[in-house]
Amino acid sequence: MQKSWQHALIIGASSGIGEALARRLASQGCLVAMVARRLEQLERIAEEIAASGAPKPLLYRHDVCEVECVPALFQKITHDLGGLDLIIYSAGIMPILAEHEYSLEKDLATIDVNVRGAVAWLDMAAERFERAGSGTLVGISSVAGDRGRRHFPVYSASKAFLDTYLEGLRNRTGRYGVRVVTVKPGPVDTPLVKGLKNLPFLISADRAAELILKGAHRDGVVYVPRIWRPIMAIVRLIPSFIFKRLNV
Ligand SMILES: NC(=O)c1ccc[n+]([C@@H]2O[C@H](COP(=O)([O-])OP(=O)(O)OC[C@H]3O[C@@H](n4cnc5c(N)ncnc54)[C@H](OP(=O)(O)O)[C@@H]3O)[C@@H](O)[C@H]2O)c1
Repeated sequence: MQKSWQHALIIGASSGIGEALARRLASQGCLVAMVARRLEQLERIAEEIAASGAPKPLLYRHDVCEVECVPALFQKITHDLGGLDLIIYSAGIMPILAEHEYSLEKDLATIDVNVRGAVAWLDMAAERFERAGSGTLVGISSVAGDRGRRHFPVYSASKAFLDTYLEGLRNRTGRYGVRVVTVKPGPVDTPLVKGLKNLPFLISADRAAELILKGAHRDGVVYVPRIWRPIMAIVRLIPSFIFKRLNV
């Protein structure tokens, strides 16, 4: 019987995968702290969760670009929750670039949310879990991190950073009882991919959350759904001179 989580913190919980994870964890009796910028969205989700009879989540308005606020907010949240055994960093942006567009503003925003925010939150959790000798730390990466994609150079690079960073955390904290899980979803039907075409093996956010929570009981890298593991193993083998001709 797998042990269920009691106190979870989700950063990027106001929509999509983060929202679905919060709903699923709460339905299992877990007290969830939900973090995002849109407090009204968080309030609506929390009301619905409470109405279903699950523990009402705790809500925190926060912009992950404000990394200097993270240490104090992390301490407050763990105190309010009364503990922490699971953290999930799901905040992420993927600005659309036009064919000839190079936007430093979009690129730096992507690095701020997908990289700097992730490090600010996950370093705090890694330190706490290492001291406690237990805890599960989950980063929502992407299959996009496995190759440099012509449509999303900085988004792909931000996820490759997350993959390597999480591997390092796993190797650093595993010996102290901490579980570190890298989640690499393919397309998931959320606002992030709204308007995009050609989304193979598209799954719902709820299905993604189900697979993520199942996968998070084991240390390592989880492709969501599993079909992406063999697909990306092949994609990684495509020589660069061929990959650069593909429109992916
Ligand atoms: N959907 C996909 O196909 C797919 C595939 C692979 C990986 N992913 C990854 O999955 C994760 C979740 O994405 P999603 O699909 O669920 O997208 P989403 O519905 O757009 O959710 C993104 C979440 O990130 C939060 N966020 C964005 N910027 C933030 C900021 N500056 N400060 C705090 N929170 C911020 C948003 O909250 P606020 O706007 O309220 O702040 C929202 O809760 C992302 O890391 C994404 O890269 C998604």
